[in-house]
Amino acid sequence: MRERKYFIETFGCQMNEHDSEVIAGIMEGAGYSAATSIDEADIILFNTCCVRESAEQRILGRISRAGALKKRRPELVIGVGGCMVQYPEGRQRIKTRCPYVDFTFDTTALERLPEILAHHGIPVGCLVGEAIQPKRKSSLCAFVTITYGCDNFCSYCIVPYVRGPQKSRRPEEVIDEVRRLGERGYKEVTLLGQNVNAYGRDFNPTSAGKDWDFGDLLLELDKVPGIERIRYTTSHPRDFQERFIEITARSKKVCEHFHLPVQAGSNKVLRLMNRGYTKEGYLRLVEKIRELIPSASVTTDLIVGFPGEDDRDFEDTMDLVEKVRFDAAFTFMYSPRSGTAAATLPDQVALDVKKKRLERLIRVQNEIAKQINEAQKGKVLEVLVEGPSERDPKMLSGRTRTNKMVHFPGPENLTGHLVNVLITDAPGHTLRGEMTNRATI
Ligand code: SAH
Ligand code: SF4
Ligand code: F3S
Repeated sequence: MRERKYFIETFGCQMNEHDSEVIAGIMEGAGYSAATSIDEADIILFNTCCVRESAEQRILGRISRAGALKKRRPELVIGVGGCMVQYPEGRQRIKTRCPYVDFTFDTTALERLPEILAHHGIPVGCLVGEAIQPKRKSSLCAFVTITYGCDNFCSYCIVPYVRGPQKSRRPEEVIDEVRRLGERGYKEVTLLGQNVNAYGRDFNPTSAGKDWDFGDLLLELDKVPGIERIRYTTSHPRDFQERFIEITARSKKVCEHFHLPVQAGSNKVLRLMNRGYTKEGYLRLVEKIRELIPSASVTTDLIVGFPGEDDRDFEDTMDLVEKVRFDAAFTFMYSPRSGTAAATLPDQVALDVKKKRLERLIRVQNEIAKQINEAQKGKVLEVLVEGPSERDPKMLSGRTRTNKMVHFPGPENLTGHLVNVLITDAPGHTLRGEMTNRATI
């Protein structure tokens, strides 16, 4: 029999990217192999996101494309999982707009996927009872989940509804996974969770023995041989303790990049968002980071047009952006999600106002990012070589500890090594440079 092939299309955050690696592992365990495009796939799985309306629209468009393929090849199987399936409105949209979808699956119970396939008469191979091994995209940088779900209920956000309450993985399980990654040659791990700073808060203190928090986990992972860099995402400014900055300052492995989503600069809006900190508190946190680690990079997420945001509130956001000077920012227009508290707030902001605010914010933030990148010229930065550049195979690409992408000439066999690069140019969002020497193996 011809080998059956799967193709996964992933949308949304890094948790979804990693879930797709787990799904790939499950599919291979079920006797499938990876297709290089949807055209040669026997089964297409969509791993979806519903954080904003725009994400849902894009996904529906992609599923429709697969639907068109299925018209020509009726034996093609289409499955949909991920957050959109857990969101009643999203699920309904899939049902009405993509009736040819064969099945949906639950992200919070991926191990049930083979069972679901079998239930729908889709061939599955042997594998019973074996532990699932994620099939990671990279053999250098690995995602490692530390918490599932979220307890924060920021008033705009659908994630706690679709991903459920926070559940931390046991520290020994996380440490063991990172150790095994180190043994297999991985150099970098990114710890994943919606609010990693709240790691361990859901442990039952009587059964867990020692209490673990995020700082304890960082300290323990810092000792794992082979692993050179530790990153984590996402942080919550309310739960980000000074101790984490101190640990980062002392640690060789924990990278001095702080992704601290602020969302807004107006205290009124922050309160309505249920974020639990003020503009002043946030500025103090950033000041502390820069005091202890002057070379640190700070990035953020921002939402414009939250209900009730007036011109003055938006000016507070602009003021914060100019004061902090973020290395980079993900910027979004508020998108109402049904079932969340903010969706029913009065004073929803008109689309054209949101657009104007977003444009202005992006313009100012781009200029700041450009200036910061320009200021890297002449510095020698440590880069983990990820491989040949996608655009120019004669160039290598890698990231600095501060998470900036650098392109520089060099041989492919440096992939996986740490090298020092003198920054010579800062075109667009990336840096260019020349290797000065090899830092370590
Ligand atoms: N747990 C992470 C990521 C959540 S989703 C965190 O707390 O930062 C990623 C980003 O999407 C959020 O930081 C927020 O900026 C944005 N976002 C979430 N819900 C949104 C909504 N309804 N409309 C617009 N942006 C939203
Ligand atoms: Fe959403 Fe807030 Fe949880 Fe992030 S911390 S996932 S924004 S509820
Ligand atoms: Fe991530 Fe989107 Fe779900 S941002 S948690 S994939 S709603």
